[in-house]
Amino acid sequence: MATVVVFLLFLLPLLSHHLTAAVSSSGSGGTRLRFFWHDISAGPDPSAVLVAQSATRSSSSFGTVKVMDDPLTAGPNRSSLLVGKSQGIYVSADKETAGLLMAMTFSFVVGKYNGSTLAVVGRNEVKTETREMAITGGTGQFRQARGHAQARTHSFDPTTD
Ligand SMILES: *[C@@H]1O[C@H](CO)[C@@H](O)[C@H](O)[C@H]1NC(C)=O
Ligand SMILES: *[C@@H]1O[C@H](CO)[C@@H](O)[C@H](O)[C@H]1NC(C)=O
Repeated sequence: MATVVVFLLFLLPLLSHHLTAAVSSSGSGGTRLRFFWHDISAGPDPSAVLVAQSATRSSSSFGTVKVMDDPLTAGPNRSSLLVGKSQGIYVSADKETAGLLMAMTFSFVVGKYNGSTLAVVGRNEVKTETREMAITGGTGQFRQARGHAQARTHSFDPTTD
C-alpha cells in the first residue's frame, strides 16, 4: 500500500524576534508550508512498518502500531524533490473507524529549514477529507513554533509495488 497525503502547515508568527527575522512571513503574518507525505507499507522498501497489533481483530485495526520514516516531497511524485522526512509512530486508536493517533517529527533537509524540525501530534481520521493536527513545537528555525497542519489524501494505491 502506498498513500500520498498533502500536508499544509500553518504556523503562527514566531514570538521571539530572531526567529521572526529568520522565517519568511506570509500575508497573514504566519508561515505556510506545503508538501506531500508518502507512506509506503508494502513492497521491497517500505517506509512504514507494523511493530505491534492487538490480539483481537477489528475492522478499524484498533490496537495497531506502526513506525514510519516517510519521505516528504515537494510534489506528488515520489521522485520529486525530497524536502524532509516524517519520522514517528501512528496508532490505530479508534474502535469504531479508521482513526489514527499520529505522533511524528517533520525533519527538513532543504533550504533555510535544513536541519530544523516540527513536532506534530493529533488525530487522523483517514477517511475524512481534511484532517487537522496540532503543531506543538519545533527546533532550529521552528523553535517555539505553534500552529496546525491540514492533511488531505492525494492518492491511495492498494497494490504492493
Ligand atoms: C514520476 O516521475 C518519474 C521520473 O521523473 C516518471 O517516470 C513518472 O512517470 C512520474 N509519475 C507520475 C505518476 O507522474
Ligand atoms: C543540509 O545540511 C546538511 C548538514 O549540515 C548538509 O550536509 C547538506 O548538504 C544540507 N543540504 C542542503 C540541501 O542544503
